[in-house]
This record gives sequence, C-alpha cells and structure tokens, in this order.
Amino acid sequence: MENHAALMASGAAALGVALVFMMRRRKQRALGGGKVMFHPRVESKNDLGANGSTSGKNVHPEGPNIGPGSSRHWFSKDPHYPERTDLLHTGHAQGGKLVIVMVGVPGRGKTYIARKVARYLRWINYRTRVFSLARMRQEQYGEKQSADFYNPSNEDAHRLRMEVLRRAVSDMMKYLNRGGEVAILDGTNVTKDRRKLIRDAVAEQDGFSCLFIESVCDDPEVIQSTLSGVENFSPDFIASDDFARRVDFYSSVYETVDDNEGMLVRTHNQGARICVAGLQGFLPSKLLAFISNLHGTTNKPVYMTRHGESEFNTEHRIGGDSPLSEAGRQYALALSDFVEKTIPKDELCVWSSTMRRARQTANPVVERKLYWRYVEWRALREIEVGVCDGLTYQQVKEQFPSEFAAREENKLRYRYPRGESYLDLISRLEPVIIEFERQAEPLLIVAHQAVLRCLYAYFLDLPEEEVPYLSIPLHTVIKLEHRAFGWREQRFTLAST
Ligand code: F6P
Repeated sequence: MENHAALMASGAAALGVALVFMMRRRKQRALGGGKVMFHPRVESKNDLGANGSTSGKNVHPEGPNIGPGSSRHWFSKDPHYPERTDLLHTGHAQGGKLVIVMVGVPGRGKTYIARKVARYLRWINYRTRVFSLARMRQEQYGEKQSADFYNPSNEDAHRLRMEVLRRAVSDMMKYLNRGGEVAILDGTNVTKDRRKLIRDAVAEQDGFSCLFIESVCDDPEVIQSTLSGVENFSPDFIASDDFARRVDFYSSVYETVDDNEGMLVRTHNQGARICVAGLQGFLPSKLLAFISNLHGTTNKPVYMTRHGESEFNTEHRIGGDSPLSEAGRQYALALSDFVEKTIPKDELCVWSSTMRRARQTANPVVERKLYWRYVEWRALREIEVGVCDGLTYQQVKEQFPSEFAAREENKLRYRYPRGESYLDLISRLEPVIIEFERQAEPLLIVAHQAVLRCLYAYFLDLPEEEVPYLSIPLHTVIKLEHRAFGWREQRFTLAST
C-alpha cells in the first residue's frame, strides 16, 4: 500500500516526458512507471501554404489535439489503397466531401463538440480537419477583443469578421480539394446570411455537402458548466460582464437553422434532446449516433491496463486464452489495492474483456466490490491472430515467412489469415468509444495490448500509423485526464514481470 502511495506521489511530481513515436519496425521506447506526461493539444494553422503543408513544427496536419513527435505527413498515402473519393456515396467522381458547420452563440460547447467529432472521424480513418474562426481571427486581429467587436452594428468589425469567414471557407475548399475528406468550421455562424455564404461555396463544388451541428443551451446549469471552461481557458475571455454582452450581441441576431438549410443535428443542453433534419447517408447518421452520446463537457479520468502477465506471455506466444501466471495474479491483487486507494468505489465503472486473463485481472476488484458498475465486453478481446494463434513471433516467421514480412511491411493494415488487422480492431471498438463518450464516471478498462493501443490513440488523437507501435507495457496502469489544453497522462507500474 505504502509502495503504491509513493508511486503515485512520484507520478504526480515527475516532469513531462513526450511520447516519442518510433518509426515502423523500430523498437518501441519503454516508458517507465510513475511518469507524468502532458500531451498538449497543438492547434493547426488554417493557412495550408502553397503545397498544402502546414507551417508549424509538430503540428498535426489535419487538425488539433495531436501529441508531440508525430511524424505523419500531410496525408498518409498508401499505394495499395485507392483514395476514397465519394464519401457520401452519391455518385460524384471527385466529390462526396463533407463540410460540417458549427452553429450557436459563444460558450455553448461548440468547440468541444467540433474537436470530439474531428477526433472520432480521424480515428475511424476519415481525413478530417477543424478550421477555427476564433483562432484565425485571433491570429489576424489579436486576442481579447472587447464585446464591441461583436456588436452587429459595428460595421468595421463586421467587415473584418466576414473576411475571416471567407478565408476560412476558401481554406476548407482547398483542403477538401487536396485530399481532405471532412472539414469542420468551428464558429458561431448564427445568421442565415453567413450560413448561405458557406452553403453557396459548398454547392459550387461537385458533390460537397453541408451538415450543420447547432448547439443550443437554455439550462442555467449547463450554461454555467460551459462558461467556466470559457472563463478559464478561452484566450478571448476578458471578464464575465464583457462575455455576457458578447453573448447578447450574438443572441440579438441569432436565427436558428431552418429545415430547408440542409442536413442538421441540433443538440439541446449538451445532448439532453437532439433534433434532426434532412440527414442522409451513412456518415451523417454515424455522426448523429456519436453526437447523441456526447455527455456534456465534464471530464472523468480513464484508467487503462493490460491484463496481468499470462502463461502465454511467459512463453512469448500470441493469441490463445491462457490464464494468468503467478506474476499476473500478483499484479491483479496490486491493481485492486491501487483501485481501492485511488478511485471512489461508488463511482468506478470497470470494463473488462471477456478473455480469461482479463477477467482474472479484474477479479480482485470485483470480489472486493471496489466498483459501481462492472461490464464485460466481447469487443475488448485481443486482436484475433487466426492461423498464428498459439505461436511465438519466431515460429510465425519460420512457418509463415510471407505473412511475417507482410505484417512488418504494414502492421496497421495487415490482417492475419482468418484473423484481424489493427484497422479491423478499430472498427470493432467503435461501440466501446460511443459508450465511453456517454460515460460520466471514472472508468477502468482491463484489456489487451493491441486493443489498448487503439483506445489510447483515440483518446490522444494520435495518427493511425502510430497505433500498432504504441507502448502499452504489462503491469502498468495508464491514467488519462482530459484538460482544456491537452491530456495529462500518468503511468503507474504496480509490479514487475
Ligand atoms: O503478446 C501479447 C499480445 O497481446 C498478443 O496476444 C497479440 O497478438 C499481441 O500482443 C499484439 O501486439 P502486436 O500487434 O505488436 O503483435
């Protein structure tokens, strides 16, 4: 127990260590226990530059929220896979791109929704980028403009704001025409005139479509919770009364989105009620499911751990459904001590894979009743290795040399014969992500190496190429907490292997 307390204290004190992505086929760098890492959310520039590249260092080329050290290029082109062109399946040769337009007065959680949607879309493999009007305006005219800047009768300021909008729309079209698939315009867009300008630009492009996401809040509690985020973190925030005046200016010209303006998802009071109009096709419907489950802007920690060491682990064999080794059982006990000390038991939700080694790892937590809800998920089972089940990597290399080489070549897309690829795994985990977004309580996930790599990449918005190489060591609890400007990560190594 004391040992755990010390580990936690040292975890809290340690300085940030950047997660370093090692290129394909290079060895991973192991991250030690008790470390704190901060993954800043790095906003991308909206200026694409002549060759479509972004200018900042360590800037995620397709949007915010990316951790440092990314080596991802402008687009991940894979010669074996054709470019997707008809995202909305409407028969357009070049088109089929989606422009998502956020709508709502300031302080209603639009940026939060836009970022979550972008992260989700990138994770399920759509090239997506957020274009923030606030950021562009700040870059051009400076932060902390007083409320007067937003007064609709301030003609000079109105002209400047329209210029920013036009530039953002033009950047979005460039982005989509250069291979982007979804562009998200994060701004207020509260008047029909502004939305018409956007719609007209979209309509000029073959097969491009608009989806409006409108966020409406009238519940004082919900407004207060989003406002505290604005007060603490918005670079534009000056004072409460100035912000209230700004909201009043926007409210005075606010025209809610009409059914005839295009596809619409309107969320009231952070998902308490959802209205939909004109939604068509697979992707918009998928987004509806995702947005319906976004649970406010409250953030709860997520704890992730692999099962304790299994008998197969000791023999370096993959697949199977073997029980824990003695060291694995010790880890399961240590995990329950950690949980008891760290997470209130009347709040904790535990999600375990249905595999034997994961259940056995969660078992002491369950037996000691240290949880509020316990759920077993088939979706959390380890990557299916098909014909390689029960083999060591060396045996795979000897018995299936071409398969081994193919996996080395493209670990993300490689699918084991009669098994799965990492991309398959990401699809399988989608329901887990939807349920995660619905969660309001702290969560402990007990699963497996490949599965946790996929989930970790979702939480941190990491490029998919990094997924198969992320470091998720045994006997380590990874704690992730969402902060306004990124993710705080702590790793607690509870036992040796
Ligand atoms: O070795 C443990 C394990 O969970 C295997 O069951 C699984 O096949 C493997 O890790 C996934 O890791 P990788 O994709 O690096 O082979």
